[in-house]
Amino acid sequence: MITITNLVKRFGDRVAVDDLSVEIGQEVFTFLGPNGAGKTTVVNMLCGLLQRDSGMISISGLDPETTPGEVRSKIGLVPQETALYEYLTARENLDFHAKFYGVPGGQVKQRIQDALELVQLTERADDRVSTYSGGMKRRLALVRALLHDPEVLILDEPTLGIDVQNRNEIWNRIQELKEEKTILITTNYMDEADRLSDRCLVMAEGKLIALDTPANLKLKHAGGIRVEAYITADQKIVKALIEKLKQIAPEARYADTEMKGEFNFVLPARGQANELLTEVSRIFREFPQVNILDLSLRVPTLDDVFLELTGSHLRD
Ligand SMILES: Nc1ncnc2c1ncn2[C@@H]1O[C@H](COP(=O)(O)OP(=O)(O)OP(=O)(O)O)[C@@H](O)[C@H]1O
Ligand SMILES: [Mg+2]
Repeated sequence: MITITNLVKRFGDRVAVDDLSVEIGQEVFTFLGPNGAGKTTVVNMLCGLLQRDSGMISISGLDPETTPGEVRSKIGLVPQETALYEYLTARENLDFHAKFYGVPGGQVKQRIQDALELVQLTERADDRVSTYSGGMKRRLALVRALLHDPEVLILDEPTLGIDVQNRNEIWNRIQELKEEKTILITTNYMDEADRLSDRCLVMAEGKLIALDTPANLKLKHAGGIRVEAYITADQKIVKALIEKLKQIAPEARYADTEMKGEFNFVLPARGQANELLTEVSRIFREFPQVNILDLSLRVPTLDDVFLELTGSHLRD
């Protein structure tokens, strides 16, 4: 159980974490936000690696600033920058970690074996980490964090730079671990937040912007199904088109895609998409000069939520 109350952290004039309060229980809890939102700063304060300016933190009743050693033994951390001993092998890295965190001697060997198997590194276990790919290092860092069986698992950008297949495996493993642990993830991949989170805290510029289940966030802030179109046309015609489209979808937005004459439209549906689709095709028929490059129907994403709440996208 993690409780954060009115947490503030400044770096000079910059407020990196701005009066953040949240309670996290046994669940997968995600901090979703763009670069510089303050996610890693929160993680570092939770782990006792950084001092806060004000506010309270409690990890199972303990304050990381007053009892850093005890808090550290409760937490398994996968930091954003993978910190492994490059000149040691995977097995040696795990062994060092197990001993440092006081894993009972009789269990070390078996735990290391299981860990290596889990992330399919058994065959490479005795190679130096410096010979690993980025994704392999990331996978090793993940199981290393689990070796001392922590109550709380904190993953700062767990799948950064990991390929699709390994990403899915890590996601599955996180889902399984949720049965026994409090799991906190930071990410700026909206699909990761959507897929994994029981609850998702959307943050920007150090502030909590929204907090709910991914489904509720989308329902509350991003409405229903949306029609998305890429077209080429004259600016003047596009303006006329958008006027018409706004009559059927008042939240209709369009943007210049920075390719000369190419535009992207998003039309959120208020209720069922059926009506909207019929109307959209009727309107497009009135504008034969418009060339449709792509037309799709999609459900809202957490990026739509972020856009709705902040006016910008999660990623550029
Ligand atoms: N040691 C530091 N000194 C000065 N400023 C810092 C320091 N660490 C973080 N910051 C600033 O605090 C803000 C939040 O940074 P933080 O690393 O927490 O963001 P983040 O949400 O983890 O971003 P990313 O998605 O890029 O990892 C940024 O403006 C960053 O420049
Ligand atoms: Mg970060």
